Amino acid sequence: MSPFRLTRTLPEDATDAALRADVLQGLTGSPRTLPPKWFYDARGSELFEEITALPEYYPTRAEREILLARSGEIAEASGARTLIELGSGSSEKTRHLLDALTGLHTYVPVDVSESALTLAGRALAAERPGLNVHALVDDFTGSMTLPDTPGPRLVVFLGGTIGNLLPDERTAFLASVRAMLAPGDALLLGTDLVKDEEVLVRAYDDAAGVTAAFNRNVLAVINRELGADFDPAAFEHVAVWDAGHEWIEMRLRSRERQTVKIPALGLAVDFAAGEELRTEVSAKFREERVREELDAAGMEPVRWWTDEGGRFALSLSVAR
Ligand code: SAH
Ligand code: AVI
Repeated sequence: MSPFRLTRTLPEDATDAALRADVLQGLTGSPRTLPPKWFYDARGSELFEEITALPEYYPTRAEREILLARSGEIAEASGARTLIELGSGSSEKTRHLLDALTGLHTYVPVDVSESALTLAGRALAAERPGLNVHALVDDFTGSMTLPDTPGPRLVVFLGGTIGNLLPDERTAFLASVRAMLAPGDALLLGTDLVKDEEVLVRAYDDAAGVTAAFNRNVLAVINRELGADFDPAAFEHVAVWDAGHEWIEMRLRSRERQTVKIPALGLAVDFAAGEELRTEVSAKFREERVREELDAAGMEPVRWWTDEGGRFALSLSVAR
């Protein structure tokens, strides 16, 4: 069995402070918002995995199709000895890349979900003798301290998770990715593409209600961590396409007039009947925009691949 290491870069009290700050700011502002990273406790990570298998949720299957077809080319182009994956979750699709990267020294999965990292990292280390797996519990929107491992580096950001960042967060994020790379190192980026509104809304409002449970899970996280008394059933799951921004918004809509207490913050939040709380944006992209944003961050886009159905894209770019 090869080595598995897990480093918690953020101490638990820093995570707790960040949650308090986000909840205070997000629930006292107008409109009310919460950052999507708080979905992913152990239950949230499980629910996300269930989402990936839903008939309506095409992104995971589409991205896997591309990885199956292109991992060899990606491995050859990058020659990576260190693979850094941001928001790695179950690392399931990454297996295709790991198979292709024959000279790989270390795999560094980075995620806020310690349960997902431990589950995936231990399994990979057990299955792949000779591969070092060094997992980091960290927030990829902050400045990450990466282990000192040999280059070239390949950073991968799959699933379309970049779409969960707001435009200014995305710009800062791409700049921080560029700062992790030496000239010639590469970034593999998964982006979901603009398509029919009906297909998009169904992907975020599935018939079995798994996405609704995932959305409401953020309330359970706040109840557990901050002693709040949210009744998740008192909030309706809403998914809407914002054509101006070209993103899906997930919201929780209060079914009635209600007051929620959050003792850890000394806060009582009034919700009017029908009032909405935005919990996630999931931006959808066009090739031109992806190219422009990569270029602006100092990355040279070199390849663009889509699945057969043209639903999802993977792009490879090289640090200038
Ligand atoms: N890459 C996987 C998982 C996508 S789900 C796939 O394509 O299927 C998004 C993942 O990003 C989750 O595992 C979640 O815990 C993680 N995540 C979300 N926000 C994060 C943040 N700010 N910092 C680090 N990880 C984050
Ligand atoms: C992780 N991320 C890319 C998912 C998405 O599609 O935006 C999260 C998700 N939200 C609802 N369903 C899945």
